[in-house]
Amino acid sequence: MTTFTINGRSVDVAAEPDTPLLWVIREHLKLTGTKFGCGIAQCGACTVHVDGAPVRSCQTALESVAGRKITTIEGLSANSSHPLQKAWIAEQVPQCGYCQSGQIMEAAAFLAKNPRPTRAEIVQAMDGHICRCGTYSRIIRAIERAAKEAPGEAIGSPGAHKVSLTIGGPAR
Ligand code: FES
Ligand code: FES
Repeated sequence: MTTFTINGRSVDVAAEPDTPLLWVIREHLKLTGTKFGCGIAQCGACTVHVDGAPVRSCQTALESVAGRKITTIEGLSANSSHPLQKAWIAEQVPQCGYCQSGQIMEAAAFLAKNPRPTRAEIVQAMDGHICRCGTYSRIIRAIERAAKEAPGEAIGSPGAHKVSLTIGGPAR
C-alpha cells in the first residue's frame, strides 16, 4: 500500500511499487484528464505536479511518490478558474485536446517559478511538449496572457486539504 495526497485528498493505493504513476492516476483513481502519449517520457502528455514540480507520470514509479503531494489537471482549480485555464479558453488553444492537460500542467509549474517570463523563456520551458495538432503558437499566447492578467501567487498547484480516501484493487 502506498499513501500519498492527490488533488488535496489522502489516498492509499494497492499496487506494485514500480507501477507507473500514470497508471495509478488513470486506472486506480479514475482521473482520466492526464493522458498516455508515448510512455517513454518524450511527449509530455502525462505531466502532473509532484510537490509543485512537473513530472512525467508515465516514467514515475508509484513508490517514488509515497508521502508526496500530487496535482493533476482535475485539481488545478475547482471550476476551471485557474488563470491558465481561463487564458486557454480565451485564446481557444486546444484542437483535439489530447496534449493539453500536460501542456497546462507544465505551464502552471513554470509560471509559479517565473510569473513574468519572456517569450523566449516560455518557448524554452514548453520545448519538451509535443502537440500533433500544432497549437504551439496559441499555447505561447495563452501563457503570455495568464502571466499578464494573473498575480504571480495565483499560478501553480493549489494546496492540499485533509480528506481521506482509500483505493484498493488489483496491482495492474
Ligand atoms: S506519455 Fe509520458 S511523456 Fe509521453
Ligand atoms: S491539441 Fe491535439 S495534440 Fe495537441
